[in-house]
Amino acid sequence: MTNYLDNAATSFPKPESVYQAMDRFARSSLANPGRAGHKMALAAEHALDEGRHRLNQFFNGKGPERFAFTLNCTDALNMAFKGVLQAGDHVITSDLEHNSVSRPLRAMELAGHISLTRIRADGTGTLNSDDVRSTITPKTRLVAIGHASNVLGTIQPIEEIGRIAREREVLFLVDAAQTAGVVPVDIQALNIDLLAVPGHKGLMGPTGTGALYVAPRVKINVWREGGTGGDSSSETQPKDFPYFLEGGTPNVLGVAGLTAGVAWVVSERLSKIHTHETALVERLWRQLDEIGGIEIFGHRDMARHVGTLSFRCEALAATEIGGILDQAFDIAVRPGLHCAPYIHRAIGTFPEGTVRVSPGPFSTEADIDKLAGAIREILV
Ligand code: ALA
Repeated sequence: MTNYLDNAATSFPKPESVYQAMDRFARSSLANPGRAGHKMALAAEHALDEGRHRLNQFFNGKGPERFAFTLNCTDALNMAFKGVLQAGDHVITSDLEHNSVSRPLRAMELAGHISLTRIRADGTGTLNSDDVRSTITPKTRLVAIGHASNVLGTIQPIEEIGRIAREREVLFLVDAAQTAGVVPVDIQALNIDLLAVPGHKGLMGPTGTGALYVAPRVKINVWREGGTGGDSSSETQPKDFPYFLEGGTPNVLGVAGLTAGVAWVVSERLSKIHTHETALVERLWRQLDEIGGIEIFGHRDMARHVGTLSFRCEALAATEIGGILDQAFDIAVRPGLHCAPYIHRAIGTFPEGTVRVSPGPFSTEADIDKLAGAIREILV
């Protein structure tokens, strides 16, 4: 069995309850939700409703209908940027962002649609909220920040940034790709207007799931139009949420798995998951230090970290280490640029990148020790 340490890309394995929920749902209720009114269609609709309720409770949103299901976090982010931004708007983002944030915003900037400020993380991989405050202009419509870096694992001060955005009446978008299901995200307490989450990482659902939360005060345009199963007579997309944003048959089987995943996370407790994953990262950090010749990036305060660690060594390129770990040791990590080129430029690891290790809730100390042993064998 592969020693899977790539949970920042997608979590594996999933809890047994997720596999069971999907199997049960696929065999009994996999109809098209809301489309026909028969019992199976209603059961499918009910599964979507239950998923939205779970997400709303989990993230303390202002109503289940404010959560639109999406294909993944990238889909949610595109829906937000393309639905909210207008010609002439100014947007603040950072050099820690994943391409799912950087690319759509950069493309809009290149097209002359928006102007963009990219604030820089400090040497520890952390943003300074004062940089957000000082770069807001009368044209700023949106601050778009990732809750934790997918390269360095550093958690960002979104509480302060959210407070500043609200004071200045700027919309606040949080990309919780690396924190949803690991670190608490309270939409209302953090002044979040738009929250993009993947279903298939910390929330333990399958790939092909995600969600966008849209606060009632946000004016958003429809991005994907099509059938919603209700109000078929309307010539354009029905205005009611969440159907306004959900044209086309949703991934109801995936949502059944996601709902079970969120239930599992709640029963397991976020603090336990977070402590477990960061303790494994700390264990690996110590062992890499002992091997020597390895440079590890980001700060070491595990209270402000998720379970992700990036390193490189002089002796061998990151992609080579990743390839040997996979082929010779059956250990899965992610080497390279991690779809986040700006932060690799900032820390001086562009274009080779780093080796990224990301344990999950089911990873063990033995998995970490095997990885460290393999790295020792490769390098020493
Ligand atoms: N965003 C995922 C990662 O960081 C795919 O690996």
